[in-house]
Amino acid sequence: MTLRFVDFRDLTAEQRADAARVLRDAFAHMPDAFDGEFDAEVDGFFDDEDREAFAAFSGETLLGWIGRIETYDHAWELHPLVVDPACQRRGIGAALVAELEARVKADGVLTLYLGTDDDFGGTSLAGVDLFPNVAGHIAGVRESSRGHPFAFYQKLGYEIVGLIPDANGRGKPDIWMAKRL
Ligand SMILES: CC(C)(COP(=O)(O)OP(=O)(O)OC[C@H]1O[C@@H](n2cnc3c(N)ncnc32)[C@H](O)[C@@H]1OP(=O)(O)O)[C@@H](O)C(=O)NCCC(=O)NCCS
Repeated sequence: MTLRFVDFRDLTAEQRADAARVLRDAFAHMPDAFDGEFDAEVDGFFDDEDREAFAAFSGETLLGWIGRIETYDHAWELHPLVVDPACQRRGIGAALVAELEARVKADGVLTLYLGTDDDFGGTSLAGVDLFPNVAGHIAGVRESSRGHPFAFYQKLGYEIVGLIPDANGRGKPDIWMAKRL
């Protein structure tokens, strides 16, 4: 599939609405994601100068998008990444990440990092009390039968660098991952 990347600032109003729809559909398994404010999340990439995003198109169809946030001087956050559920597992997510990595590396970024929540029982960390010795739980993290994107990021070279216990409620941690560019 030939993908075309389009910066958010070049999207039409209709395509901007498509980006919000894809965000909503991709997170349908996490009802509390973005507090249901999908348009507002997209708008943030127009209103906040620390944020940039671009979308992947096949022809005129928006298939997914990715954003980044300038946080530290040399380590930026990947947030968010979504692929239309109808088009997942076709390499689009990996292509978006590769394009983002190339772009931020050119900006002098050394480390790209992200948080990937498990508030739906997607990993072996679900329901586990991670205190004490939180870091000790990192080595044993596995996907559950429900699947979880941390395994996708591992394939792309990201490693788990931290866990935030109970970030989304008791037994629902956030998993922090990072990659040297
Ligand atoms: C996670 C997501 C972006 C992946 O996008 P995608 O286009 O389906 O992924 P790709 O097809 O590029 O996958 C690349 C590789 O990762 C693997 N992969 C994809 N999702 C995976 C998962 N959940 N678990 C394990 N491996 C996965 C693919 O099989 C592929 O492996 P291969 O190269 O050996 O064939 C997509 O599933 C999505 O939008 N999910 C919902 C939103 C979300 O969770 N975003 C991330 C939040 S941090």
